[in-house]
Amino acid sequence: MHNAIRSLYDEHEMIVEAIEVAKEAGTLIGKDDERYVRTMKDLIDFFRTYADQYHHHKEEEVLFPLMLESNEMLGDGVLKEMLENHADFREMLDGISKDLEAGRLPQVRDGLARYSEALLDHIAVENDEVFHMAMTLLDDNTLDRVGFQFEDHDRETGAERKEELARMVRELRKELAV
Ligand SMILES: [Fe+2]
Ligand SMILES: [Fe+2]
Repeated sequence: MHNAIRSLYDEHEMIVEAIEVAKEAGTLIGKDDERYVRTMKDLIDFFRTYADQYHHHKEEEVLFPLMLESNEMLGDGVLKEMLENHADFREMLDGISKDLEAGRLPQVRDGLARYSEALLDHIAVENDEVFHMAMTLLDDNTLDRVGFQFEDHDRETGAERKEELARMVRELRKELAV
């Protein structure tokens, strides 16, 4: 597998780890609300920044447009669906964030459960269909270019910050023993 595509799979794995933390943290409600709120703030930050700004933007701005160039038909099919999902995820996070600010913790938990389920479905479609399609449609030179653009994107968005967010999720996992 080409490294550029591998890096997207790796980011998916990181995002799935955060989803597991979100699920486990729900048990804190009623027991330690303060800690739940703190954990949710961190997780929302992770989903908005790592999952959206780093990951979804790479798909939207680099990979999907190149796939569309090589096969216009994709614009009405699975890629359109993926882009709509990204937009839905942003909206869902805004809703969850509002519930959190208002202290509506059960709604935060339920909203995150819906978000997580939708995101897991989305990741499965990309892993099983979209990325295979990308490797079929794009030659190695193009994928090399994709890889460089991914690296640029991480650098511009902040490579250290990305690492920090990954570390934060791993620590939360340890704390919650997920
Ligand atoms: Fe995506
Ligand atoms: Fe993705």
